[in-house]
Amino acid sequence: MLVGIGSDHGGFRLKEDIKQYLQEQGINFTDFGTCSTDSVDYPDVSREVAQAVADGKCDRGIIICGTGIGVSIAANKIRGIRAALCHDVYSAQMSREHNDANILTMGERVIGMGLARAIVEKWLATEFAGGRHSRRVCMIADLER
Ligand code: RB5
Repeated sequence: MLVGIGSDHGGFRLKEDIKQYLQEQGINFTDFGTCSTDSVDYPDVSREVAQAVADGKCDRGIIICGTGIGVSIAANKIRGIRAALCHDVYSAQMSREHNDANILTMGERVIGMGLARAIVEKWLATEFAGGRHSRRVCMIADLER
């Protein structure tokens, strides 16, 4: 699995920690920036990660900003993207099982690094349940037409 990861300045430190976690787990990733805590505009990095996932260049995406909200709103504007803002492990699991979320967003100013790592672990390990949920995910895709 190749994970696309990105953040704005508000999520930079957490992005770096999640990169370290992915490295420790032997999970491949592409870093779409940002590269420091200098101010940048979150829709830019969100679009880059989301487009890479939508184009199939990355299998999943993780995008982090201060709250996780801005990057989530922006990513969900890209066709084919189902970005889920998760600040607890249960939501992370359900976003995969029920919603087939292909992007996880989090807020560095909201949760600590330990919880963020646990969320990422669960989110990457959980498969889409399919079944009745497939129909609903298809209905979401229909909204994009
Ligand atoms: C940047 O200050 C902040 O607005 C951004 O990181 C994010 O929280 C937006 O939703």
